[in-house]
Amino acid sequence: MGWAILSVCIFALIVLGVPVILRAVLGVKRDDANSWRERMELRYQNIGISVWIFAWFKLRLDAMFRELPEFVKVMPNLRTAMDLGCGHGFAACALLEWFGELKLYGVEPSAGRVCTAARATGERGVVVQGAAPDFEWPGLPDRLDAVFALDMMHFLSDADFERTLRRIRARLNDGGYLVIRTPMAPESFGSWAWHLARIVRKIQGIGAWHRSAQRIQDAMTAAGFQTTKTQMSGENPELYWFIAMACRNETGGSR
Ligand SMILES: C[S@@+](CC[C@H](N)C(=O)[O-])C[C@H]1O[C@@H](n2cnc3c(N)ncnc32)[C@H](O)[C@@H]1O
Repeated sequence: MGWAILSVCIFALIVLGVPVILRAVLGVKRDDANSWRERMELRYQNIGISVWIFAWFKLRLDAMFRELPEFVKVMPNLRTAMDLGCGHGFAACALLEWFGELKLYGVEPSAGRVCTAARATGERGVVVQGAAPDFEWPGLPDRLDAVFALDMMHFLSDADFERTLRRIRARLNDGGYLVIRTPMAPESFGSWAWHLARIVRKIQGIGAWHRSAQRIQDAMTAAGFQTTKTQMSGENPELYWFIAMACRNETGGSR
């Protein structure tokens, strides 16, 4: 009996103590949050320990947060943007930190992630549950300055991918930007990480469509975009950025 009580106490100490220790060691103090990274961490620090730790690592390890700031320099006046498949809202929050006037619309199928992203983005975010290609809802502005679709387009079949591109084009202002980062079809056998992700998806029963760079660029052109940049992400040949501009006089055609 004594051992059982001691075990419960030790377990409770670990469960309650680890988050306190982690916050003391890794946490950002509100008054010290000067950089965009620190302000972004603050947004997650009090939401939940797992999502905060995820954000902490993602900010440091994912090349997205080194590369995306460079890409968005060509879009200095972002006022309205959508993050399609926003997940926990990490990129959405970074965008809000970089663009002080931005209103961010997030769409995400997972209810739990919608909740986290809504809390993290706060008053300047509107996050709804939904999924491409049927991502539109009445509260979405008719016209957006930019759309970000990060690490999610491979979840769409070819038909849904093309429909999503056309619908995004129809929502963008002429000259507006579409920023995609997506896992690619591997050149040869594929890395262990690519195969691990494939096995995890198989266990979860999630389908994936990995395309070549040419296939993605062709689909973007057909939807009314001009590709302005195609670039590897984090020196990983299985992960690429595609930045495209909405061509003028293009209404998106049939949706
Ligand atoms: C790898 S996560 C990336 C999340 C986020 N974009 C980021 O970069 O941190 C992929 C996200 O896409 C979402 N997703 C899957 N299918 C989708 C669809 N049809 N439309 C929109 N989002 C989708 C998943 O729920 C998941 O949150």
